[in-house]
Order: sequence, then C-alpha cells, then structure tokens
Amino acid sequence: MCGIVGYVGSKNAAPIIVDGLRKLEYRGYDSAGIAIHDGKSIEIVRTLGKLVKLSDALEKRTLLGSTGIGHTRWATHGRPSEINAHPHSAGPIAVVHNGIIENHVAVRQELEGQGVKFLSDTDTEIVAHLIQRELVQGAPNLFEATRRSLLRVVGAYAIAVVSRDEPGVIVAARNGSPLVVGVGEDEMLCGSDIPALLAHTRQMLFLEDGDVVELKAKGYRIETVAGEKVERKVKRIDWSAVQAEKSGFKHFMLKEIHEQPDCIEATLRGRIDLAGGDVYAAEIGVTPELARGLRRIYFVACGTSHHAAMAGRYWVEKLARVPAVVDLASEVRYRDPVFFADDLVVAISQSGETVDTLFAVKAARAAGAKVLAISNVVDSAIPRLADGALYTHAGPEIGVASTKCFTAQLAALLMLSVYLGRRRETLSKERAQEVLQALWETPSHMRDVLGDADYMHVIAKKLTHAKDVLFLGRGLGFPIALEGALKLKEISYAHAEGYAAGEMKHGPIALIDDQMPIIVVAPHDELFEKTASNVQEVLARGGKVIMMSDAAGIASFPGRTLATIRLPDCDPFVAPILYAVPLQLLAYYTAVHKGTDVDQPRNLAKSVTVE
Ligand code: G6P
Repeated sequence: MCGIVGYVGSKNAAPIIVDGLRKLEYRGYDSAGIAIHDGKSIEIVRTLGKLVKLSDALEKRTLLGSTGIGHTRWATHGRPSEINAHPHSAGPIAVVHNGIIENHVAVRQELEGQGVKFLSDTDTEIVAHLIQRELVQGAPNLFEATRRSLLRVVGAYAIAVVSRDEPGVIVAARNGSPLVVGVGEDEMLCGSDIPALLAHTRQMLFLEDGDVVELKAKGYRIETVAGEKVERKVKRIDWSAVQAEKSGFKHFMLKEIHEQPDCIEATLRGRIDLAGGDVYAAEIGVTPELARGLRRIYFVACGTSHHAAMAGRYWVEKLARVPAVVDLASEVRYRDPVFFADDLVVAISQSGETVDTLFAVKAARAAGAKVLAISNVVDSAIPRLADGALYTHAGPEIGVASTKCFTAQLAALLMLSVYLGRRRETLSKERAQEVLQALWETPSHMRDVLGDADYMHVIAKKLTHAKDVLFLGRGLGFPIALEGALKLKEISYAHAEGYAAGEMKHGPIALIDDQMPIIVVAPHDELFEKTASNVQEVLARGGKVIMMSDAAGIASFPGRTLATIRLPDCDPFVAPILYAVPLQLLAYYTAVHKGTDVDQPRNLAKSVTVE
C-alpha cells in the first residue's frame, strides 16, 4: 500500500509529482506529502487527509524546484497524522517509502542509543537516519549511502530519496514493493505504478527486488544492494494516459464498469480459435505437456480475485475434469499446505503484487509446483515469479473496488478451462465451440445490460436504507453472490453477505424479516428450480426478494418479488460474467445515493502489499 513518485528533470517538479500521486491515490489516502529540491535546499510539505489537502497546501505555499519526491499513505506503523506522513527526513535527507520494514524496532533502538531523536512513529524514519549516518561515516554520495543503508534493512520497501547536498539526484530502490522507472527526454521519473508516469513517458523499466537506481535528468544507473552493476530492459508501455482518466464519468468505478465489454474483447482477442473450438497454446501461459500432465489445480487469491477463482474451479472441474481447490492466499502462508509437483497453482491477482498471494506462490514453487499467474499488470511481482502468465487486458483499474478486472479474470479463467479441457480430451470440439462462442458474445450482452444502467439506479434506491442485505446464488451463481455482497459492503458500507442458496436454511434464514432485501442470482439453468424453492422459503418469512434472472427464469418464478432484474439469455457457463455487471451497478448507485466515497472507500486500498 502507499504510493510514491519521484521526478528529476528541468520542469517544475511539484505539479508533476502531485499529478502522479493522484493516479496512485487508490493505494492509500490517509495523508500525503512532498519534498522539493530547489537547487539549494529541500522544502517539505505534509498534510493529513486526502491528496486534495496537499494540493490546497501547495496553493498557499508554492514549492519551486525541478527535483522532488512525493507520497500518498495508507497507515501501517503510526496512525494517520501530519507527523507520520512522508517524506521523513534526517539532516540533509528526505525519504518516501512504500512497504513495511520488519526490523525497524531493533534499528531504531540502536540509533536511539547513538543519540538519534525520532520524530515519528513510522518504520520509515529509520531509513532516513541510516542514510544520514552512512554519509557522516564517509559514504561518497547519496547512492552509495542508500545502498549501504539498505544492507541493514529487512522487509518490503520501495523508496525514493533526495539529499540537500546532491541537487538533481534521486536514489530509489525496491525489495518486495513495486517500483517503475520512467525514462523521459532529459527527465527521469519513478513511481509505484505505471499510471503515475504515463503522462510523461511510455518508456519504462521495472526494477528487480534488491535493485538500487540513481536517477538524474540525463540518465540512470542501477546496482544491486550488494553493489553489483546490473542492466534492466526498458519496455514500451501501451496503456494510454487517457485510460487512466475518468473520461466524463462521475467516478472511475462507473467508467470501469462501462469499459467491461471492451476489456473482455481485449482479453479474448487473438487467443481463441472459434472455428477450431480451441485456445492458442502460446497465449495461455500453460504448455500442452503441463496441461495434460497436471493432477490438480490449486487456486490462490484474495478478495475479488478469490471470487473469480471460485468460478474458475467450477469451470476447470466441469470442462477439464481436473480436481481443483480454492484457497485464500492469506490462509496459505502459515498453514503449511500440501502442494504436489504435478499441481498447477493458479495465482489470480489484478495488481500482481498482493503480498499474501505472492507468498503463496513462493510456497508453491518451493514445493516444486508449477505456477500460472493471472494478472492485469504486466511484469508485476506475481507474474514475474510464476512459470507462466496469462494477462487480462483490462487496462489500468483505478477504482478501489475491482470491477472490470474481475470480469476479465472470469473470461481468462473460462478460456483457460477450455484450453485444458481440449488438451486433456475431456471437452469435445463442438462443446468448446459453443462455450467460446458464448464467451465471445458476452461483451455484446454486457452492452445491453449497461444500456439499462438507469434501471439499476432506481432499484438501488430500495437498498439505500437497508442495514443488511443478503445475496444468494448456487453453483456459478454463488461466487457472483459473494462478489455482489463484497461490492456493496466495500463502497456503500451496508452490511452484506453472500451465501450459497442451499446453505441459507443452515443459518442466515434466521436473519430474514420484512426489512431485509435478498438479492438472488438465478439464471434459468439446471439449478434454477432448486434456487427458486430456496427463494420461496425466503418469501414465506417476509423477505424482500430482488430476483436476477433471464426471461424464462422470471416467467417461471411464481412468487412476489420486490423487483426483478432481467438479463439477456446466455449459455449458463458465461452467466457469471454477465450477472456480475448489474450487481456492480447496484452497489455503485447505492453508494451514490448514500453519498459515500465511491472510488476511495474508507479504510481500503487497492493494492495490499502488507499482510
Ligand atoms: C484489495 C482490493 C480488492 C482486491 C484485493 C486483491 O482488497 O481492494 O479489490 O480484490 O485486494 O487484489 P489483487 O490485486 O491481488 O487482485
């Protein structure tokens, strides 16, 4: 969590840094700060609250200078306050940091023993003091002082450092937390994520763990923390800066919901062979040999990606007849799970950097299993660690509550399942053609659903005052019910629970009264009748049902509902991708009616790089 940005060049750095931080606010937004070098000295401004507070402060106190670093924070060590906001300084040094320094207590005690006075409660401040100490002890420059200091630091970090005594220089480093370097014309940038740099350059390089880089307007050099010179390849990033803007939508989340048809098309394009009923091996990240030889699929993920994994399990079991398990990545790390060498571990992570998923991947690899990463961020930590990567092409997702990356993950997982089914000869060419055709038609059905967004605006009014909302689904509808509940919780702060419809009578039925809306995900598939009888049980207890189904389901459902949401007819296999969309809109409009902060809900961050 937390976002950092650095700029060195000839332009005025402060507006560039603040603009970059705005693109990173999804990573945390409880305080922010900036340090600007004006050629002689460093000035620091820090504010409590969202970035807009920093912008306001900078209107009153203009910082001029062409080198600087900035930070937007999600508190880990030390409550949100101006004192704990970054940058942190020691003598001539100012530092911003994303990550957690695990040995900060021991280092702090050591430094305090040497007379150092600490001003904040953060783990970061030790880095500033360590660098200052190295300089006092004779390190020839900021680069060398930073490198030597990092030998003392245990934990995850992406840092950027400036020194009063070295104008026109930023030193940055990473270990475990992401850091991208942007190579511009006579200017260099660094930042936690691509969108922060996109307005200035598309030429970017991704540091490896343990890299330290020195940035100057006209170039850079990289060494490992151990002092070995290394080169990292500069890549051209195709995302456009416009993709990271709201483009006329009120919120990023609404824009991203509406982008979904395009994202799915982009994720499928060039990868599926509709006529041949197959998926191209070169595009999927799993070799045909591995597809044939694997004995089990072990999905690991967190949050929304975990819900995608649950649908993935259903599809691979059904189409490829592979036993599959789904695990929360945060539960894997300390449970010592059993991985086999012929397991395929599928790690799903939109950001590619969620620390729990990263550790699950490390554990799987250590046990000899093969790992496929499904991610939206090219070259992020999890795909880099995996044996293969299947990228969703959803473009940058800025809204903290994931929408377009979720449905793109679902599309990728269904594609993967078809691929495995064909290699393992459990899926006929004809059925594969049907499934792929249905998948290919999903964006067009989605456009119809999105065309009806105003209707969801109306239905959301019925949820505005609800304190508790239940979401029910069976089979592939269950993960969608969980995801619908998560979306509502995340952005409208209503308590919502997703439940397997058949489990309802084992507990949640006790909650039902005439105040509780119950949203039912029920395409007219082979499970429809079962779900419908669960809904009758709800109605018999006074529950207020909002029924989501297709024409046949709605026509055949006998009970009285509070509302119905009619979806286009589709192959039940792709229904989850489609049914996710009205639930996203429902959560969105409920939040809008309630006036909550849709794109940056309280206490959340998009990218969770702490345990
Ligand atoms: C955070 C985000 C969620 C996301 C989860 C997993 O909680 O707010 O939207 O689903 O992390 O993130 P990942 O990047 O691994 O998919």
